[in-house]
Amino acid sequence: MLVKNKSDISMSEITAESVFLSRRKFIENTASLTLLGAAAMGGASLVAAAPQDKTFTNLPRSPFSTAIPPNRFEDVSTYNNFYEFGTAKEAPALYAGGLRTRPWTVQVEGEVKKTGQYALDDFLKPYALEERIYRFRCVEAWSMVVPWVGIALRDVIKGLQPGSRAKYVEFTTLHDPTQMPGQKRNVLDWPYVEGLRIDEATHPLALLAVGMYGRVLPNQNGAPLRLIVPWKYGFKSIKSIVKIRFLEDPPVSTWMWSAPSEYGFYANVNPDVDHPRWSQAKERRLGEIFKQKTLPFNGYADQVASLYTGMDLRKNF
Ligand code: MTE
Repeated sequence: MLVKNKSDISMSEITAESVFLSRRKFIENTASLTLLGAAAMGGASLVAAAPQDKTFTNLPRSPFSTAIPPNRFEDVSTYNNFYEFGTAKEAPALYAGGLRTRPWTVQVEGEVKKTGQYALDDFLKPYALEERIYRFRCVEAWSMVVPWVGIALRDVIKGLQPGSRAKYVEFTTLHDPTQMPGQKRNVLDWPYVEGLRIDEATHPLALLAVGMYGRVLPNQNGAPLRLIVPWKYGFKSIKSIVKIRFLEDPPVSTWMWSAPSEYGFYANVNPDVDHPRWSQAKERRLGEIFKQKTLPFNGYADQVASLYTGMDLRKNF
């Protein structure tokens, strides 16, 4: 996704993966030099893209996991969309390292009993973590397979006790231009906001992730807490969440606000409905040369199609 300004949205200037990969080679080389330099000076180093130690061990693997082999950690953590750190795919890995992910709070608001501000670790404490290997499909037609570490969003929602008027759930990313330099530019209407219908949010596949590949989430992948909705385009999977609000009416998500003719509220992966400026029929998995067919609901149709019975998914894109 790439935008110039709010009135001139353009996701067409996507960094082609081949261009990206050659640029990454360059960055890897300079990064190791920077690391050496930083180590020599005893100062902070460019570690955003470096694998962290395994933190989560012996996690149960969710039966919702795909059997497809995951992508490499190195690819998933260096080819990112996180506009708060810049619009280039390599920018988040380079610039998100300084984001302070503790202390971190989650504000709960709206049509729900347990409103309040929670320290993240208290917020998550009641729930057991598990590993879930999911397909992930970006609207820009690249995809990946990732072993996330997280908890079912439905368990968290149940714990918060939404009222009968809670028909939608809205999520908001941190807004702090001092830590997120991309927010100094007017490329999106900050903070980043996303939303789900309550039955989508409480579907067993929806995940709140805190890690991937057995490690704490790298900042560029949305630390310390992000959403993963595997049957929807990647932009629904909002990163670095600080607020969860329960609403009676549908929230306006950031991309709907920016380009309503291009990005709808539902954003279900649908190979039959093209983006106005490109086809969605195929996707290229990170690290692979040949494209493959995109599947309806990103391969999760058996589990989620019934959520949309009777809806015209061409209109409700
Ligand atoms: N969340 C925030 N706050 N800001 C963003 O720019 N980009 C979205 C989504 N969540 C984005 C975000 C898009 S377009 C995609 S494809 C995924 O994050 C990318 O997730 P990844 O970088 O972990 O692959």
